Amino acid sequence: MPKLGVNIDHVATLRQARGGVEPEPVLAASLCEAAGCDSIVSHLREDRRHINEKDLYILRKTIRTRLNMEMSIAKEIVGIALKVRPDEATLVPERRKELTTEGGLDCVKYGREISEVVHKLRQKGIVVSLFIDADRKQIDAATKTGAEFLELHTGEYANAKDNHVRQTQLKKLVEATEYTIRSGLRVNAGHGLNYSNVSAVAKIEGIEELNIGHSIISRAVFVGLDRAVKEMLALIR
Ligand code: PXP
Repeated sequence: MPKLGVNIDHVATLRQARGGVEPEPVLAASLCEAAGCDSIVSHLREDRRHINEKDLYILRKTIRTRLNMEMSIAKEIVGIALKVRPDEATLVPERRKELTTEGGLDCVKYGREISEVVHKLRQKGIVVSLFIDADRKQIDAATKTGAEFLELHTGEYANAKDNHVRQTQLKKLVEATEYTIRSGLRVNAGHGLNYSNVSAVAKIEGIEELNIGHSIISRAVFVGLDRAVKEMLALIR
């Protein structure tokens, strides 16, 4: 049974829409924890479109579970991560114009750069995870970077328009999970998971944590954060 990490960035997105102080992402994090989630995920983007450094420092002080900082390998962001010292860092690719993280990291092309960042973070005691596509070449390259976890990108599964494609993508996730564990790494998964597609992924043997943001925060608008998190936990469990 995987754990649940809740990404609270969308609460900050709403705050930024008016440039004021509400809704407060730090309060959202503590409500998610009270509802039973296992970690809080937050992505400090280079353009600061939602979470900023101040949020991160407060989250670091107030979170009682674990703080998983999603981040690119840009020098400035790595410097901040080394100061904030999240429990876990998930390295993701980042393009300014994207609406959300679009694909996995390219560990084949950027293996050396990624390894250097992994090394720096691990030296500070931060557990490092790499967000990658469910692809053997990427897994092989990721294995050489020194990261402890891989987060498998579930976007293609989640966005599948028909059942055949969805089942094919699910199979890829199952195989990639097995292959990653055989290669000596641990597995998380996330992106695009929601109340109707999460169960099949939650059943994959070996996945330790699912990181979910958009669907939970969207549902919270109607039912509240406490219920939105608890409903997701019930589906996962
Ligand atoms: N995992 C990673 C690495 C992500 O970049 C994101 C999006 O920020 C998520 C999980 C959560 O995705 P979603 O908001 O679609 O649930």
